[in-house]
Amino acid sequence: MEKEIVLSGIRPTGFLHLGNYFGALRNYVRMQDAFNCYFFVADWHSLTTHPDTTELRNSVLRVIAENIACGLDPDKVALYIQSDVPEIAELYLYLNMLAYKGELEKTVTFKEKLRRQPDNANAGLLTYPVLQAADILIHRAVKVPVGKDQEQHLEMARNFAERFNYRYGNVLPLPHAFNYGDNLVKIMSLDGSGKMSKSENQLATLYLADDGDSIRKKIMKAKTDQGPSEPNGVKPDYIENLFTLMSLVSAPGTVQKFEDDFNASSAGNCIIRYGDMKKQLAEDMAAFIQPIREKAADIQNNKLLLDRIIRQGADKARASASETLKLVRSAIGIKYM
Ligand code: TRP
Repeated sequence: MEKEIVLSGIRPTGFLHLGNYFGALRNYVRMQDAFNCYFFVADWHSLTTHPDTTELRNSVLRVIAENIACGLDPDKVALYIQSDVPEIAELYLYLNMLAYKGELEKTVTFKEKLRRQPDNANAGLLTYPVLQAADILIHRAVKVPVGKDQEQHLEMARNFAERFNYRYGNVLPLPHAFNYGDNLVKIMSLDGSGKMSKSENQLATLYLADDGDSIRKKIMKAKTDQGPSEPNGVKPDYIENLFTLMSLVSAPGTVQKFEDDFNASSAGNCIIRYGDMKKQLAEDMAAFIQPIREKAADIQNNKLLLDRIIRQGADKARASASETLKLVRSAIGIKYM
């Protein structure tokens, strides 16, 4: 049986962090044997919000290197850069004729970005979901590992595909969001304010490129409090987050010890020592991130290797994309000889 096609994209708008790793990359690595996988760096998408492109090249190459350092095998998956696949732009053009101004204006992410950059309401921002649909449909992918915030975009991709199929004939399978349910970990920023972010609140986010010292500093500054007020109390979310992080990188016995300390603590009898917990977490986290950081740096410094990987990814992606485009063109009727 043919393997199902999985596809996901990541915008090169900053440094990859632990949330990217545990929420996405780690799952991609699990998918690479069971599925026919396409993973790409969405550099065109990043132009909708980042007109300053001086850092673009570094970011794109770093994301590629970090993906491999996290365990993606470029011989198993197609790992490529969006702009290396011009077929995506052509499909985007066709899909734009099937996307309506009204629905694009209603997109939650569009409204959110308009609020953030009211002076840059460009058409690329408006049609961001159309480009994302083209990314997916160009490989006729059916499974798209993304977080909750992307579900509306996926629904739009299905709508565009359905309209295409209705108008021109059945060419594009409908894509759905997909994740290993047991494995969806949410990682908050260390100051307890929202999710970790590629570009914001950098002192409360742990990046895959952070060295041991910055990891220790950031974790020691993580938000805590005076401790539980009653035995077996409920953890505030910023404390829960420290336990989550610990369960991801520390030995089970270590986590259990702090769990037990937490549960035995109450006002006036605080057994858990958050300082000790953070020290332990910092060491385990530093040890966890170090090999990823070093491997990513090695790859990034090896221009020959990077070049080969990027070319190989582009070749795989273009082979699949051009097949879809052939079907698309002939379904539309753009085939004159
Ligand atoms: N919009 C996605 C994000 O912000 C990135 C993305 C672009 C993507 N194209 C995609 C994700 C196609 C999945 C499939 O995270």
